[in-house]
Amino acid sequence: MIELNYKNVDAQVIGEENGLNIEEEFNNYQERITHIIADLNKRKDKPGQWLRWMNLGYSEETVWYVKEFASMVEGRFENILVLGIGGSALGGIAVTEALLKPYWNLLTPEQRNNQPRIFFLDNIDPDSINSLLNILDLKKTLVNVITKSGSTAETMSQYMIVKDLLEKELGDDYRKNIVVTTDKNIGILKQLADQEGYKTFIVPDDVGGRFSVFSAVGLLPFALVGIDIDEITNGIKDMDLALKNLDIHENIAAQNALIHYLMDTKKGKNLSVMMPYSSRLKYVSDWYVQLWAESLGKEYDKEGNRVNIGPTPIKALGVTDQHSQIQLYNEGPNNKVINFIRVKEFDTTLEIPKIFEYTGIGYLGGKTINDLLNAEADSTRVALADYQRPTVTITIPKINGYYVAQLLYMLEVQTAIAGELYNIDTFNQPGVEQAKNYTYALMGRSGYEDSAIQLQTKMASV
Ligand code: PA5
Repeated sequence: MIELNYKNVDAQVIGEENGLNIEEEFNNYQERITHIIADLNKRKDKPGQWLRWMNLGYSEETVWYVKEFASMVEGRFENILVLGIGGSALGGIAVTEALLKPYWNLLTPEQRNNQPRIFFLDNIDPDSINSLLNILDLKKTLVNVITKSGSTAETMSQYMIVKDLLEKELGDDYRKNIVVTTDKNIGILKQLADQEGYKTFIVPDDVGGRFSVFSAVGLLPFALVGIDIDEITNGIKDMDLALKNLDIHENIAAQNALIHYLMDTKKGKNLSVMMPYSSRLKYVSDWYVQLWAESLGKEYDKEGNRVNIGPTPIKALGVTDQHSQIQLYNEGPNNKVINFIRVKEFDTTLEIPKIFEYTGIGYLGGKTINDLLNAEADSTRVALADYQRPTVTITIPKINGYYVAQLLYMLEVQTAIAGELYNIDTFNQPGVEQAKNYTYALMGRSGYEDSAIQLQTKMASV
């Protein structure tokens, strides 16, 4: 199982002013945490609670359909192109970057075990879209359009561009190159998929975008590039079982949620840095940033009081950001909780040759890059403690589907528990919807005419 070490948030290590009396706090909050965990598990099957992501590890039917489709198209495509944004892309990017061999798209087909390359278009930069579309042979590309709402302007515009190109190249057969993942009822994409006859996967009800990585949103692209999705569901199930434990001393999601909540509300540390010491886990930080920001950044609490709360998430990468952000983290405002992610065992070892023995870099020879990475992670953690900065360390034994799934699921549950502690609705995103609606108005979507007029007036003044 993955582990959480919270020693460096304790007042005994980083001092009373910045640290927490952690044992005391765990005991003080035990009852509240028990209630929160029991309540989340009680509500998870109820419609309208947006907690069905807690069931995704057990969704054998989805796994079966995903595997069936993946084996049906095996060998037919050189590329998978995912069109999606936010929660419809970030989990896919995080997991494929973690689990596929590094530089996957640059490997030969043999090095990729004849599995396809995978590309995510999660932005609407015209230069990068044009460039990618020039690189890909669309005839040999399977396009997975992913949008829960079925109408997000960025994804739908990409879909329209790609569909048009595909049809021009392939005629009527273009339909075989599109697979859609969307809601079963709402949205334009589902209607179009039915009309045009695309293979369709469903984002289950009550699973929000940022909690959808273990639905077909993620599982389909994973299976299409040969990732073992059973390993992933096993990781989720084992972590889910561990996180059902009502004892805060045994529940790492509850511990980290409470630490972040108390550091924010008692110690004024409302920034949460996610810093994996692994390039393969780099995009877990991007995924976490969305999860934490959209879930916890809220204007109102559950009683409708204006609170404008939410800890700000920040992404960082070890060791790269030791040469960038760490100066600020050590000496700047003491307003952050830093989450290190450490990997116990890397897939490979890389030795530094014993050359230049009698020079100032001779000490490196004979060591491994693995040693150097670990030494740097340890020294950064200790230096931060010297400066009385709180850090927690999440340790993952290895980077594989089982542990990466545990990590992501743990962070999802941590977010849900933190939302309850803040007493806000973790699962809505009115701030995102507001901007989406403004975009619809500006781009002339029907039904948004009044907003468009109001918006033109506002734009003139801001
Ligand atoms: O988490 C969320 O709900 C959002 O970030 C969405 O995932 C994002 O806006 C994309 O929405 P959709 O999947 O409906 O296209």
